Amino acid sequence: MRAVIRSMGGYVPSRRMANEEFSKFIDTSDEWIYSHTGIRFRHIAGEDQATSDLALEACKVALERANLPSEDIDVILIATATSDFIGFPATACIVQDRLRAQKAASMDIVAGCTGFIYGLETARGYIASGFAKHVLLCGAEALTKVTDWEDRNTCVLFGDGAGAAVISADSNTDDRGILYSYMRTEGSGARLLERTAGGSRYPMVPHKTDPKDFFLKMDGRKVYSFAVRVIIESINNILENNNVELDDIKYIVPHQANIRIIEAASRRSKIPMDKFYMNIAEYANTSAATIPIALNEMYEKNLLEEGDLILTVGFGAGLTYGGNLVRW
Ligand code: UT7
Repeated sequence: MRAVIRSMGGYVPSRRMANEEFSKFIDTSDEWIYSHTGIRFRHIAGEDQATSDLALEACKVALERANLPSEDIDVILIATATSDFIGFPATACIVQDRLRAQKAASMDIVAGCTGFIYGLETARGYIASGFAKHVLLCGAEALTKVTDWEDRNTCVLFGDGAGAAVISADSNTDDRGILYSYMRTEGSGARLLERTAGGSRYPMVPHKTDPKDFFLKMDGRKVYSFAVRVIIESINNILENNNVELDDIKYIVPHQANIRIIEAASRRSKIPMDKFYMNIAEYANTSAATIPIALNEMYEKNLLEEGDLILTVGFGAGLTYGGNLVRW
């Protein structure tokens, strides 16, 4: 039984913040941000918008385009690093209630920016086992709620948004769908990208915990080098294990963290930049949402035709990394 991506949906908050705005309150510039990252704008969730609110909008669009009533969803997966609440309840449960998806099992996938890639393989597994006919998978983040707006090393990099896919069992095809996934972990780098406080390792201690320890922290340079290395490793693994040539791939859809990471991977692997679909200039890094936001944009621009081979590739907190091979 094939697991086919039947539709995409997306949502970004209406507030669009340009790089210039940062120079009003931190020592930075549009020139620095754009030249070091490729980012020009990011969309910022409103005070009343949590991750589930963004996810809900993207999911509704995907369900409508699939013409699938929410009662038919068997599994809801929300890939996120910025769940509505720390630990529990899962953001997927909040989305389940608001969609009135009565028979759905619901859980979050916590794999940092690689979450959507892990989610595609999880969805494929539920469908291949016969457990699910329809899986709703959404990458959703409200990162600007957990970034330190006084830290120029991180706050300029992130944005908010969501992208969703309806993935359905299809017995009428033997070559479309999620074909293969490469998923790896480098847990030795777990602390290179973290939110320190509020979990069981560093629980919140009144009057003692530094409030800044609730914010995202990152060793940007180390994550950068890791990213370039594992992007190339993941692409090579996927091509080799599927007897696929680069020319057979219509687009590589990478996690959008920094255009320089993709440019460095492109130079080293000799894969031309125009093979990579990039939209970081508009949305910045929306973690688990970058790949589905990009896929939704491609879907809306009619860049994806039935039969096209797409390769996703990503990396993130964990450290996790990998990619998927999908025939549209
Ligand atoms: O989704 C996974 C998440 N991970 C990532 O997105 C991170 C990957 N890493 C990166 O994208 C890059 O390492 C950064 C964009 C974070 C940093 O770029 P870089 O070219 O590696 O800069 P750097 O860390 O080498 O810093 C260069 C200088 C530093 O100043 P000093 O110490 O050399 O005087 C920083 O303080 O740039 C300074 N700097 C800034 N200056 C102006 C850092 N952030 C800013 C800023 N504006 N916003």
